[in-house]
Amino acid sequence: MSDQNTVLLVIADKTEWSRVISVLGDAGYRVLTTRSAKEARARTRDVLVDLIICEDNLSNENGACLLCDYRMAHPEIIRLMVKTDKVAKDCKTNSDRAAVYQFIRKPLDPQQIGLLAKRALEARELGRRHRLLSRELKFSDDSPMFEQPQPLRNGVQCHNFEKLVYSSESMSALCNLAKQAATTDLPILIQGETGTGKELFARALHFKSERNQSPLLFQNCGGMSDELLQSELFGHKRGAFTGASGDRLGLFRAADGGTVFLDEISDVSKSFQVSLLRFLQDGEVKPLGSDIVQHSDVRILAATNVPLEKLVAQGKFRQDLYFRLKGFEINIPPLRDRRDDIPVLAEFFVRKYSEEMRRRVLGISNDVLERFSNYSFPGNVRELENEIRRMVALSQDGDYVTHRHLSPDIAKVSPTRNLVSTKALQFDGATLKEKVESLEKELLRDALARHRWNQSEAARELGLSRVGLANKIKRYHIEQLS
Ligand SMILES: Nc1ncnc2c1ncn2[C@@H]1O[C@H](COP(=O)(O)OP(=O)(O)OP(=O)(O)O)[C@@H](O)[C@H]1O
Ligand SMILES: [Mg+2]
Repeated sequence: MSDQNTVLLVIADKTEWSRVISVLGDAGYRVLTTRSAKEARARTRDVLVDLIICEDNLSNENGACLLCDYRMAHPEIIRLMVKTDKVAKDCKTNSDRAAVYQFIRKPLDPQQIGLLAKRALEARELGRRHRLLSRELKFSDDSPMFEQPQPLRNGVQCHNFEKLVYSSESMSALCNLAKQAATTDLPILIQGETGTGKELFARALHFKSERNQSPLLFQNCGGMSDELLQSELFGHKRGAFTGASGDRLGLFRAADGGTVFLDEISDVSKSFQVSLLRFLQDGEVKPLGSDIVQHSDVRILAATNVPLEKLVAQGKFRQDLYFRLKGFEINIPPLRDRRDDIPVLAEFFVRKYSEEMRRRVLGISNDVLERFSNYSFPGNVRELENEIRRMVALSQDGDYVTHRHLSPDIAKVSPTRNLVSTKALQFDGATLKEKVESLEKELLRDALARHRWNQSEAARELGLSRVGLANKIKRYHIEQLS
């Protein structure tokens, strides 16, 4: 990072520095010089400095004391100190306190000082990236469960797209589209109610893309002021606004080569939408308080609970930005509209939490699955996951999770489906006998499906003997769907 945006300050009152200063200038840094501590303090009030090189025996003040002050007031400035051999005891304590990055010995070697400055600035940059990546790492959870997707009982196939688990046709179609979209560089807009898996989808898209060796960084845009959001994404120079005590790289540059996920994109102001549009058009990043425009190659994924089309119609979201963001559009259906996913997700979460809590749970009862399938899940998959985590926590080793473990809201849901409105009664012109038989067939099929073709359990529920049920299955030609 040696550009004219990087400012070095040399505090020394000797002429022997001229060669060092010209080497640093040649390396592309903007080099400021001052002779005294007082002058240095005045300069750093006006200019954002990245690195200071200071002599220890300045004429009016001890260099180590000055660096101690800088450590307190501007900890982000890298401090290098030139040390003479005879150091008084109090100077030594001060230079320890100043937490100097490295001491320089005389005679001065300009090339070596140039290399030292470069290395120190790179180390600071790496530190910043490390902090950003650690934030990302906090979210990642590499459970080995995802490596081996398992087909479930009774032929119900469980699929995976990275860490997404599903079985329904609508999710299969969506994941197939997502797998194709992932390999392109187009922005992707992910829409869906809360808890439907938008963030999980974003991770899957990144890890399926060619950018998967570069960072995936997250920004929640909800409830952020424009200034804060601008500085989080585009970065800022120290002093760009009140409270900007250090430089900030910004996610767009930190994720260069990778992906940035903008969550709750519907919340950004009209004026921020303009900045974002500019970035999407030409990849330009201008940190707050800086005149220099930089570039970053980042793929944008954005998510929202509120359909953007609706906001565009209301004039709250720019149409041009909406079109830019939806290079591909992924609309995740609510869980109540893809009920086939409920059993596979439920089993997946039972396995996950019984392993996590080290509890030997045998499985999930049909009665619970029925109630789940009749429940509306306003909190979608997150609500299902929380419910199962709670149920596993309440269960004992060797138990099935059953309705006894359900939370009150779901426990009061009826375990049977209301079949009066099913297709069994919908054909016109049928005789009463035909309608009754059709309803009986439908009820048998429903009970068998809910008990996963355990004929003894289905017979018990229907008040039939096992043989009686088997006869009816034969009579009505009911077949187990694979
Ligand atoms: N298909 C799925 N397979 C496995 N887990 C899922 C699936 N969908 C969602 N989850 C889990 O449900 C929880 C909520 O998912 P996520 O945070 O991605 O939802 P979201 O749509 O981003 O929600 P919000 O709008 O509230 O931010 C997470 O714990 C996630 O792991
Ligand atoms: Mg989310």
